[in-house]
Amino acid sequence: MGMKILITGGLGFIGQNLLRFLVSKKEIAKIIVVDNYSQIKNPDLKDLKNIKYFSKENYKINKSRINIIKANIKDFSFAKLICSEIDSVIHLAAESGVDISVNRPKYAFDVNVLGTFNYLEASRLNNVKNFIFASSGSVFGKATPPMHEDYEKKPISPYGSSKLAIESFCNSYASVYDIKTTILRFSNAYGNHSFHKNSVISKYIKNILNNKPLIVFGDGRQTRDYIHVNDIVMAIFRSIKTRNKSESYHIGTGVETDLNQIIKIMSSIFKKLGYNIPVIIHEDNRVGDMKNNSLYIKNTYKKLNWKSSIQLNEGIKNTISWYISNQ
Ligand SMILES: NC(=O)c1ccc[n+]([C@@H]2O[C@H](COP(=O)([O-])OP(=O)(O)OC[C@H]3O[C@@H](n4cnc5c(N)ncnc54)[C@H](O)[C@@H]3O)[C@@H](O)[C@H]2O)c1
Repeated sequence: MGMKILITGGLGFIGQNLLRFLVSKKEIAKIIVVDNYSQIKNPDLKDLKNIKYFSKENYKINKSRINIIKANIKDFSFAKLICSEIDSVIHLAAESGVDISVNRPKYAFDVNVLGTFNYLEASRLNNVKNFIFASSGSVFGKATPPMHEDYEKKPISPYGSSKLAIESFCNSYASVYDIKTTILRFSNAYGNHSFHKNSVISKYIKNILNNKPLIVFGDGRQTRDYIHVNDIVMAIFRSIKTRNKSESYHIGTGVETDLNQIIKIMSSIFKKLGYNIPVIIHEDNRVGDMKNNSLYIKNTYKKLNWKSSIQLNEGIKNTISWYISNQ
Protein backbone atom coordinates (compact mmCIF):
# COMPACT_ATOMS: atom_id res chain seq x y z
CA MET A 1 0.00 0.00 0.00
CA GLY A 2 1.26 3.45 -0.86
CA MET A 3 1.95 6.23 1.58
CA LYS A 4 -0.63 8.73 2.75
CA ILE A 5 0.70 12.23 3.22
CA LEU A 6 -0.92 15.23 4.86
CA ILE A 7 0.43 18.64 3.89
CA THR A 8 -0.73 21.56 6.00
CA GLY A 9 -0.33 24.84 4.15
CA GLY A 10 -0.25 22.87 0.90
CA LEU A 11 -1.70 25.74 -1.13
CA GLY A 12 1.16 28.06 -0.21
CA PHE A 13 4.42 28.63 -2.04
CA ILE A 14 6.44 25.65 -0.83
CA GLY A 15 3.25 23.57 -0.47
CA GLN A 16 2.17 23.88 -4.09
CA ASN A 17 5.62 22.92 -5.33
CA LEU A 18 5.70 19.96 -2.93
CA LEU A 19 2.21 18.84 -3.91
CA ARG A 20 3.12 18.75 -7.61
CA PHE A 21 6.32 16.86 -6.89
CA LEU A 22 4.66 14.25 -4.67
CA VAL A 23 1.94 13.65 -7.24
CA SER A 24 4.66 12.42 -9.60
CA LYS A 25 5.74 9.73 -7.10
CA LYS A 26 4.06 6.37 -7.51
CA GLU A 27 4.71 5.29 -3.92
CA ILE A 28 2.44 8.09 -2.67
CA ALA A 29 -1.13 6.85 -2.70
CA LYS A 30 -2.90 9.83 -1.25
CA ILE A 31 -2.17 13.47 -0.51
CA ILE A 32 -4.41 15.50 1.76
CA VAL A 33 -3.95 19.25 1.92
CA VAL A 34 -5.27 21.31 4.83
CA ASP A 35 -5.17 25.04 4.14
CA ASN A 36 -7.38 28.00 5.02
CA TYR A 37 -6.78 29.77 1.67
CA SER A 38 -5.43 32.80 3.54
CA GLN A 39 -2.56 33.41 1.11
CA ILE A 40 -4.02 32.22 -2.18
CA LYS A 41 -7.77 32.77 -2.61
CA ASN A 42 -8.15 30.95 -5.93
CA PRO A 43 -5.39 28.39 -6.26
CA ASP A 44 -4.90 27.21 -9.83
CA LEU A 45 -4.46 23.44 -9.61
CA LYS A 46 -6.00 22.66 -13.00
CA ASP A 47 -2.84 20.81 -14.03
CA LEU A 48 -3.49 18.19 -11.32
CA LYS A 49 -5.73 15.20 -11.94
CA ASN A 50 -7.82 13.14 -9.54
CA ILE A 51 -8.36 16.03 -7.14
CA LYS A 52 -11.36 16.84 -4.93
CA TYR A 53 -12.15 19.96 -2.89
CA PHE A 54 -13.83 20.01 0.51
CA SER A 55 -14.76 22.25 3.36
CA LYS A 56 -14.01 20.78 6.77
CA GLU A 57 -17.74 20.28 7.31
CA ASN A 58 -18.39 18.29 4.14
CA TYR A 59 -15.16 16.26 4.12
CA LYS A 60 -15.70 12.52 3.62
CA ILE A 61 -13.16 9.75 3.08
CA ASN A 62 -13.07 9.17 -0.68
CA LYS A 63 -11.07 7.62 -3.48
CA SER A 64 -9.55 10.77 -5.01
CA ARG A 65 -5.77 10.79 -4.84
CA ILE A 66 -5.62 14.47 -3.91
CA ASN A 67 -7.97 16.05 -1.37
CA ILE A 68 -7.87 19.77 -0.72
CA ILE A 69 -9.66 20.71 2.49
CA LYS A 70 -10.39 24.24 3.58
CA ALA A 71 -9.74 24.30 7.32
CA ASN A 72 -7.86 26.31 9.89
CA ILE A 73 -4.99 24.59 11.72
CA LYS A 74 -6.25 26.28 14.90
CA ASP A 75 -9.14 23.76 14.88
CA PHE A 76 -7.87 20.90 17.05
CA SER A 77 -10.94 18.64 16.63
CA PHE A 78 -10.49 18.69 12.89
CA ALA A 79 -6.72 18.09 13.24
CA LYS A 80 -7.45 14.92 15.22
CA LEU A 81 -9.95 13.74 12.66
CA ILE A 82 -7.84 14.36 9.58
CA CYS A 83 -4.61 12.86 10.94
CA SER A 84 -6.14 9.39 11.19
CA GLU A 85 -4.62 6.94 8.71
CA ILE A 86 -1.84 9.34 7.72
CA ASP A 87 1.77 8.10 7.46
CA SER A 88 3.55 11.46 7.35
CA VAL A 89 2.45 14.97 8.24
CA ILE A 90 4.38 17.71 6.51
CA HIS A 91 3.56 20.82 8.44
CA LEU A 92 4.06 23.92 6.33
CA ALA A 93 1.07 26.04 7.38
CA ALA A 94 2.20 29.18 9.14
CA GLU A 95 2.05 32.91 9.19
CA SER A 96 5.39 33.19 7.45
CA GLY A 97 5.83 36.97 7.42
CA VAL A 98 8.51 38.18 9.85
CA ASP A 99 7.10 41.73 9.63
CA ILE A 100 3.55 40.47 10.29
CA SER A 101 4.80 38.62 13.37
CA VAL A 102 6.36 41.88 14.61
CA ASN A 103 3.14 43.83 14.07
CA ARG A 104 0.72 41.11 15.17
CA PRO A 105 2.61 38.80 17.54
CA LYS A 106 -0.48 37.26 19.14
CA TYR A 107 -1.90 36.33 15.73
CA ALA A 108 1.43 34.79 14.65
CA PHE A 109 1.63 32.90 17.95
CA ASP A 110 -1.88 31.47 17.56
CA VAL A 111 -1.17 30.14 14.07
CA ASN A 112 2.48 29.17 14.35
CA VAL A 113 2.55 27.83 17.89
CA LEU A 114 -0.99 26.75 18.84
CA GLY A 115 -1.96 25.70 15.31
CA THR A 116 1.25 23.75 14.81
CA PHE A 117 1.04 22.14 18.22
CA ASN A 118 -2.46 20.93 17.28
CA TYR A 119 -1.03 18.96 14.37
CA LEU A 120 1.89 17.58 16.38
CA GLU A 121 -0.47 16.40 19.10
CA ALA A 122 -3.01 15.08 16.57
CA SER A 123 -0.14 13.16 14.93
CA ARG A 124 0.80 11.59 18.26
CA LEU A 125 -2.79 10.62 19.04
CA ASN A 126 -3.21 8.99 15.63
CA ASN A 127 0.17 7.18 15.63
CA VAL A 128 1.43 9.13 12.61
CA LYS A 129 4.96 7.84 11.92
CA ASN A 130 6.58 11.09 10.79
CA PHE A 131 5.97 14.69 11.67
CA ILE A 132 8.02 17.00 9.48
CA PHE A 133 8.16 20.59 10.65
CA ALA A 134 9.07 23.58 8.45
CA SER A 135 11.31 25.64 10.69
CA SER A 136 13.60 28.45 9.74
CA GLY A 137 17.12 29.81 10.07
CA SER A 138 15.48 32.66 11.97
CA VAL A 139 15.70 30.60 15.19
CA PHE A 140 19.37 31.68 15.37
CA GLY A 141 18.75 35.41 15.45
CA LYS A 142 21.89 37.49 15.11
CA ALA A 143 24.48 34.67 15.29
CA THR A 144 27.39 34.96 12.88
CA PRO A 145 26.79 32.90 9.75
CA PRO A 146 27.06 30.19 8.65
CA MET A 147 24.66 29.17 11.41
CA HIS A 148 25.79 25.88 12.87
CA GLU A 149 23.23 23.46 14.38
CA ASP A 150 24.90 23.82 17.81
CA TYR A 151 24.73 27.62 17.92
CA GLU A 152 22.76 29.30 20.64
CA LYS A 153 19.23 30.00 19.45
CA LYS A 154 18.15 33.53 20.25
CA PRO A 155 15.49 34.64 17.76
CA ILE A 156 15.06 38.37 17.14
CA SER A 157 11.47 38.21 15.86
CA PRO A 158 8.24 36.66 17.19
CA TYR A 159 8.29 34.58 14.00
CA GLY A 160 11.67 33.08 14.94
CA SER A 161 10.45 32.50 18.50
CA SER A 162 7.35 30.69 17.26
CA LYS A 163 9.53 28.35 15.20
CA LEU A 164 11.87 27.73 18.13
CA ALA A 165 8.96 26.98 20.47
CA ILE A 166 7.72 24.24 18.17
CA GLU A 167 11.23 22.86 17.62
CA SER A 168 11.35 22.38 21.35
CA PHE A 169 8.06 20.43 21.31
CA CYS A 170 9.28 18.33 18.38
CA ASN A 171 12.33 17.37 20.45
CA SER A 172 10.40 16.52 23.59
CA TYR A 173 7.75 14.56 21.66
CA ALA A 174 10.47 12.55 19.93
CA SER A 175 12.02 11.64 23.25
CA VAL A 176 8.84 10.90 25.23
CA TYR A 177 6.53 9.36 22.62
CA ASP A 178 6.82 6.96 19.76
CA ILE A 179 6.80 9.58 17.00
CA LYS A 180 9.55 10.65 14.65
CA THR A 181 9.83 14.41 14.38
CA THR A 182 12.00 16.00 11.74
CA ILE A 183 12.89 19.67 11.92
CA LEU A 184 13.85 21.24 8.62
CA ARG A 185 15.31 24.73 8.97
CA PHE A 186 14.87 26.37 5.59
CA SER A 187 16.90 29.34 4.52
CA ASN A 188 15.32 31.93 2.14
CA ALA A 189 13.27 30.19 -0.51
CA TYR A 190 12.45 31.43 -4.00
CA GLY A 191 10.93 29.86 -7.12
CA ASN A 192 7.65 29.13 -8.91
CA HIS A 193 4.27 29.71 -7.24
CA SER A 194 5.59 32.55 -5.10
CA PHE A 195 3.53 35.44 -6.56
CA HIS A 196 1.89 36.11 -3.20
CA LYS A 197 5.18 36.22 -1.30
CA ASN A 198 6.81 39.37 -0.02
CA SER A 199 10.28 37.90 -0.06
CA VAL A 200 12.83 39.95 -1.89
CA ILE A 201 13.19 37.88 -5.06
CA SER A 202 9.43 37.71 -5.55
CA LYS A 203 8.98 41.41 -4.83
CA TYR A 204 11.75 42.51 -7.17
CA ILE A 205 10.52 40.35 -10.05
CA LYS A 206 6.99 41.76 -9.69
CA ASN A 207 8.30 45.31 -9.45
CA ILE A 208 10.49 44.97 -12.52
CA LEU A 209 7.60 43.46 -14.49
CA ASN A 210 5.42 46.43 -13.43
CA ASN A 211 8.18 49.01 -13.77
CA LYS A 212 7.97 49.98 -10.09
CA PRO A 213 11.00 51.07 -8.02
CA LEU A 214 13.08 48.45 -6.22
CA ILE A 215 13.24 49.19 -2.48
CA VAL A 216 16.50 48.34 -0.75
CA PHE A 217 16.50 48.42 3.07
CA GLY A 218 19.82 49.78 4.30
CA ASP A 219 22.91 49.62 2.11
CA GLY A 220 21.95 46.45 0.22
CA ARG A 221 24.84 44.55 1.74
CA GLN A 222 22.64 42.37 3.95
CA THR A 223 23.05 38.76 2.95
CA ARG A 224 20.77 35.76 2.76
CA ASP A 225 21.15 32.10 1.84
CA TYR A 226 18.80 31.85 -1.15
CA ILE A 227 17.54 28.37 -1.91
CA HIS A 228 15.40 27.26 -4.82
CA VAL A 229 12.09 25.71 -3.80
CA ASN A 230 12.75 22.56 -5.88
CA ASP A 231 15.78 21.89 -3.69
CA ILE A 232 13.58 22.28 -0.58
CA VAL A 233 11.03 19.90 -2.04
CA MET A 234 13.74 17.28 -2.61
CA ALA A 235 14.88 17.69 1.00
CA ILE A 236 11.33 17.17 2.26
CA PHE A 237 11.00 14.07 0.11
CA ARG A 238 14.24 12.68 1.50
CA SER A 239 12.97 13.38 5.02
CA ILE A 240 9.81 11.38 4.31
CA LYS A 241 11.84 8.42 3.10
CA THR A 242 14.86 8.41 5.40
CA ARG A 243 15.13 5.82 8.14
CA ASN A 244 17.04 8.27 10.32
CA LYS A 245 15.74 8.95 13.82
CA SER A 246 14.30 12.33 14.83
CA GLU A 247 16.74 15.05 13.73
CA SER A 248 17.06 18.67 12.69
CA TYR A 249 18.50 19.48 9.28
CA HIS A 250 19.64 22.69 7.67
CA ILE A 251 18.08 23.14 4.25
CA GLY A 252 20.05 25.90 2.59
CA THR A 253 22.94 26.36 0.20
CA GLY A 254 25.49 27.60 2.73
CA VAL A 255 26.21 30.52 0.37
CA GLU A 256 25.61 34.16 1.35
CA THR A 257 24.44 36.55 -1.34
CA ASP A 258 23.79 40.23 -0.76
CA LEU A 259 20.88 42.25 -2.13
CA ASN A 260 23.06 44.25 -4.48
CA GLN A 261 24.18 41.01 -6.07
CA ILE A 262 20.55 39.83 -6.44
CA ILE A 263 19.71 43.09 -8.21
CA LYS A 264 22.71 42.63 -10.48
CA ILE A 265 21.73 39.08 -11.44
CA MET A 266 18.11 40.08 -12.08
CA SER A 267 19.03 43.18 -14.05
CA SER A 268 21.19 41.20 -16.39
CA ILE A 269 18.50 38.55 -17.01
CA PHE A 270 15.73 41.13 -17.46
CA LYS A 271 17.80 43.34 -19.75
CA LYS A 272 18.40 40.38 -22.07
CA LEU A 273 14.63 39.86 -22.15
CA GLY A 274 14.13 43.50 -23.17
CA TYR A 275 12.85 44.93 -19.87
CA ASN A 276 13.89 48.24 -18.31
CA ILE A 277 15.30 48.16 -14.79
CA PRO A 278 13.37 50.57 -12.52
CA VAL A 279 15.03 53.00 -10.08
CA ILE A 280 16.43 51.72 -6.80
CA ILE A 281 15.26 53.48 -3.63
CA HIS A 282 17.09 53.07 -0.31
CA GLU A 283 15.06 52.94 2.93
CA ASP A 284 15.88 52.30 6.61
CA ASN A 285 16.54 48.76 7.82
CA ARG A 286 13.48 46.87 9.12
CA VAL A 287 12.99 45.80 12.73
CA GLY A 288 13.46 42.05 13.27
CA ASP A 289 15.63 41.58 10.17
CA MET A 290 19.03 40.01 10.56
CA LYS A 291 21.99 41.54 8.76
CA ASN A 292 23.68 38.37 7.56
CA ASN A 293 22.42 34.88 7.23
CA SER A 294 23.40 31.52 5.89
CA LEU A 295 23.08 28.00 7.18
CA TYR A 296 25.86 25.54 7.86
CA ILE A 297 24.85 22.59 5.67
CA LYS A 298 27.61 20.00 5.84
CA ASN A 299 25.88 17.88 8.49
CA THR A 300 22.71 17.74 6.43
CA TYR A 301 24.71 16.36 3.53
CA LYS A 302 26.25 13.70 5.74
CA LYS A 303 23.08 12.70 7.58
CA LEU A 304 20.31 13.21 5.06
CA ASN A 305 22.38 12.72 1.92
CA TRP A 306 20.89 15.88 0.47
CA LYS A 307 22.41 19.06 -0.84
CA SER A 308 21.10 21.87 -2.99
CA SER A 309 21.75 21.54 -6.69
CA ILE A 310 20.24 24.64 -8.29
CA GLN A 311 22.62 27.57 -8.84
CA LEU A 312 21.27 31.02 -7.99
CA ASN A 313 21.65 32.42 -11.54
CA GLU A 314 19.87 29.50 -13.10
CA GLY A 315 17.18 29.42 -10.38
CA ILE A 316 16.41 33.12 -10.71
CA LYS A 317 16.28 32.83 -14.49
CA ASN A 318 13.75 29.99 -14.28
CA THR A 319 11.71 31.85 -11.68
CA ILE A 320 11.57 34.95 -13.88
CA SER A 321 10.36 32.84 -16.83
CA TRP A 322 7.65 31.33 -14.64
CA TYR A 323 6.50 34.79 -13.51
CA ILE A 324 6.42 36.06 -17.08
CA SER A 325 4.34 33.15 -18.34
CA ASN A 326 1.99 33.15 -15.34
CA GLN A 327 1.52 36.85 -14.61
N1 LIG B 1 9.49 30.66 2.10
C1 LIG B 1 10.57 30.72 2.85
O1 LIG B 1 11.58 31.35 2.49
C2 LIG B 1 10.62 30.00 4.17
C3 LIG B 1 11.82 30.01 4.91
C4 LIG B 1 11.87 29.36 6.14
C5 LIG B 1 10.75 28.70 6.61
N2 LIG B 1 9.60 28.71 5.89
C6 LIG B 1 8.42 28.02 6.43
O2 LIG B 1 7.93 27.11 5.45
C7 LIG B 1 6.52 27.04 5.53
C8 LIG B 1 5.89 27.33 4.17
O3 LIG B 1 6.27 28.63 3.75
P1 LIG B 1 5.72 29.29 2.43
O4 LIG B 1 6.75 30.22 1.96
O5 LIG B 1 5.21 28.26 1.52
O6 LIG B 1 4.53 30.17 3.05
P2 LIG B 1 3.10 30.53 2.42
O7 LIG B 1 2.59 31.66 3.22
O8 LIG B 1 3.18 30.66 0.96
O9 LIG B 1 2.26 29.23 2.75
C9 LIG B 1 1.67 29.00 3.99
C10 LIG B 1 0.33 28.35 3.74
O10 LIG B 1 -0.28 28.14 5.01
C11 LIG B 1 -1.63 28.51 4.94
N3 LIG B 1 -2.07 28.93 6.27
C12 LIG B 1 -1.70 30.03 6.95
N4 LIG B 1 -2.34 30.11 8.12
C13 LIG B 1 -3.16 29.02 8.18
C14 LIG B 1 -4.09 28.55 9.13
N5 LIG B 1 -4.31 29.22 10.27
N6 LIG B 1 -4.75 27.41 8.86
C15 LIG B 1 -4.54 26.73 7.70
N7 LIG B 1 -3.67 27.14 6.77
C16 LIG B 1 -2.99 28.28 7.00
C17 LIG B 1 -1.69 29.66 3.95
O11 LIG B 1 -2.97 29.77 3.39
C18 LIG B 1 -0.64 29.23 2.94
O12 LIG B 1 -1.21 28.51 1.88
C19 LIG B 1 6.11 28.02 6.63
O13 LIG B 1 5.97 27.31 7.82
C20 LIG B 1 7.27 28.97 6.72
O14 LIG B 1 7.38 29.55 8.00
C21 LIG B 1 9.52 29.33 4.68
